[in-house]
Amino acid sequence: TANKKLLVLPGDGIGPEVMDEVERVVEWLDAKRRVTFSVERALVGGSAYDAEGTPLTDATMAKAQGADAVLLGAVGGPKWEKLPFEHRPERGLLRLRKEMALFANLRPAQVFEPLVDASSLKPDLVRGLDIMILRELTGGVYFGEPRGIETLPNGEKRGFNTQSYTTSEIERVARVGFELARKRSNKLCSVEKANVMESGVLWREVVQALGDKDYPDVELSHMYADNCAMQLVRAPKQFDVIVTDNLFGDILSDCAAMLTGSLGMLPSASLGAADESGRRKALYEPVHGSAPDIAGKGLANPLATLMSFAMMLRYSFDMDEDAALIEDAVEKLLAKGVRTADIRLEGRAPVSTQEMGKALIAELETLATEQ
Ligand code: NAD
Ligand code: IPM
Ligand code: MN
Repeated sequence: TANKKLLVLPGDGIGPEVMDEVERVVEWLDAKRRVTFSVERALVGGSAYDAEGTPLTDATMAKAQGADAVLLGAVGGPKWEKLPFEHRPERGLLRLRKEMALFANLRPAQVFEPLVDASSLKPDLVRGLDIMILRELTGGVYFGEPRGIETLPNGEKRGFNTQSYTTSEIERVARVGFELARKRSNKLCSVEKANVMESGVLWREVVQALGDKDYPDVELSHMYADNCAMQLVRAPKQFDVIVTDNLFGDILSDCAAMLTGSLGMLPSASLGAADESGRRKALYEPVHGSAPDIAGKGLANPLATLMSFAMMLRYSFDMDEDAALIEDAVEKLLAKGVRTADIRLEGRAPVSTQEMGKALIAELETLATEQ
């Protein structure tokens, strides 16, 4: 059996709580020995800053580069909000994404049938929903230069950032979008604001040209980001794959999360370019943050991080069957009403983070013996 080197970065807030439960599943799979994992843990974010003076040490960065895959919980929290930018927890995550060159962030929003009523939208609008938001992750206004806060001659201050995309940055993420679409319903919607931003004009041109040249079979459309936000809550099932920039993708994926019932349900995969052997650097992370409002109370939903691990099995290790087993177990538990508070079933007491983790292992055992 192949041994996979896994770096686990629990992070801050609910990160460590949800990661504990996901690690039970990693151990459970490890015991099945179709594959074995050597798991190493390290600090990231505020917890790393407190212990090591920086949100991501060079040593941890090197471990991430050397791992077969990285699994991250969440970073950030009020305790570190006043720190200078370079020390803030979020910088640790941004450095991982940038230095591992993880330009393609896959954020699938899938509605589990038992959760149809947990969505804030009417059941018919979300039933069976399965969309993929592909967010560009290493460019745009998150990283563009110049950036900063300066003092003007009149004593006023000015904060500024730069939205910037090159042809190759757009093309490589668009290519991932077309490829994803081909494996799904063959529809790609590219989202920008070409009506007000030059970077959006270029984005639209490059995506269209790539489509014409290499993917004429994929149905390509373009949409302005504000309209897309509206369409996502009006009629989300019109979409299959959405490809968009770093900032719009951040916002639209939080929006898509609520279609599924909770931000605590949305996983993601952050992928780099494939090497000669087809392997990609990869970091798997839930879409949600450290949820300081519920941290330390056993209230957090561990499923977003768990399903991020399932994405790892699928995208990094070709373990589709094991990924499907985990997703199956999740669906079964949700159907039984075993749910954390964010997706609680009317008239049923919610379970804690830990109870959810234990129930998952029990469900996995049952499913595995049935197989
Ligand atoms: P958040 O995602 O942490 O929380 C938003 C809301 O969703 C909160 O009410 C929270 O309780 C709820 N929520 C989130 N995850 C949940 C889960 N698993 N189960 C149940 N409820 C859940 O966003 P925020 O409050 O805007 O940000 C808090 C901190 O997290 C900030 O420091 C922010 O920068 C950081 N953040 C980190 C990441 C990341 O690490 N990838 C992502 C987003 C935000
Ligand atoms: C996310 C988060 C991050 C982002 C922050 C924590 C840097 O909101 O992963 O969605 O803005 O990318
Ligand atoms: Mn976000």
